Amino acid sequence: MSCLLELQGITKRFGDFEALRDISLEIRQGEFVALLGPSGCGKTTLLRLVAGFLSSDAGTVRIDGQDMTGRPPYRRPLNTVFQNYALFPHLSVVENVAYGPRRKGTPKRKAFLEAEDTLSLVGLEGFSARLPRELSGGQQQRVALARAIVNKPKILLLDEPLSALDLKLRKRMQLELKQLQERLGITFVFVTHDQEEAMSMADRIVVMNAGRIEQVGLGDEIYERPATRFVADFIGDVNLIDCVIEEGGNVRSDLNIPISRSESASPGSATAVIRPEHFKLQRPGDPAEPGLAQFQGTIADVASVGSHSLVHVLVGSSRILARRMGGRETWMASGQEVVLMLDPAKIHFIPGKS
Ligand SMILES: Nc1ncnc2c1ncn2[C@@H]1O[C@H](COP(=O)(O)OP(=O)(O)O)[C@@H](O)[C@H]1O
Ligand SMILES: [Mg+2]
Repeated sequence: MSCLLELQGITKRFGDFEALRDISLEIRQGEFVALLGPSGCGKTTLLRLVAGFLSSDAGTVRIDGQDMTGRPPYRRPLNTVFQNYALFPHLSVVENVAYGPRRKGTPKRKAFLEAEDTLSLVGLEGFSARLPRELSGGQQQRVALARAIVNKPKILLLDEPLSALDLKLRKRMQLELKQLQERLGITFVFVTHDQEEAMSMADRIVVMNAGRIEQVGLGDEIYERPATRFVADFIGDVNLIDCVIEEGGNVRSDLNIPISRSESASPGSATAVIRPEHFKLQRPGDPAEPGLAQFQGTIADVASVGSHSLVHVLVGSSRILARRMGGRETWMASGQEVVLMLDPAKIHFIPGKS
């Protein structure tokens, strides 16, 4: 697959403040890419630069190999779905959607037919005559989406499009959006601060922090092999343990960490990354599994969320978070002695300390 959108060395300042620093990224035709990061890390700024609403202080945006510098938004082969929908309040649903084609000179009848087709694509047939204020938040979101895809853009930029919806509707829209993207084959660049949303929707995730890219990768890669402490911490629950990897491969830390041979960790300060579900929680005396490292500890607290339980265990001076599938068992109570077992191959090491 060829590269459709190419960002090279993008830097953006607002006065003295550097909102983006040296952003380089290549996105392929048909990809669904999520820009993920905490509020204020520069996601919207980056999207606005790609769309042409802002210009950068350095670097270039290329689409299909063409430099976009100086090109206004409406002359770029893309559309944006904004967080607040930005519908025209005085236009009906179908007029909102037909607006783009009309502006490009499509005759009225044809524009309205295209708009109706697109509305049915997003599940809004029968809503054409309504005004935006007569729609629910989810329906307004669909209109915003229809208004963007009716133009058949090469790239659709979506800035936290689902953030105003309640959780249940959001989950449903996540699924629908993903299916729509696959059906239409449009390249999606989707901004979110929600790691679960990014994981469930995107082919690739770009993790941003303080105006920079921390890591680009598949969801699994970012989860299992985070490149930085920031990424490890931002993506889900995690145990981060300071350690020193010695020549020869031994690991020194408060926790007696077994290093795995498959992990090519180089000597020096490091952070061991262990996801809570990789610890197996057992009662003392339960049969040990061969090949697993064992840690004796005491339960500090337990939180059960129905499908699984999160258990904090004190192991020496370390406080370890373990996740166990299923609800809380009677023996899982604070003060209870337990054994944590861990497959050494599940430990990931990040060079350097916090
Ligand atoms: N027009 C602007 N003028 C000054 N600062 C801005 C402007 N737009 C964004 N910023 C600042 O740039 C940073 C990144 O903002 P933004 O891209 O909106 O972050 P995100 O979308 O990731 O929450 C923030 O600190 C924000 O305050
Ligand atoms: Mg934003």
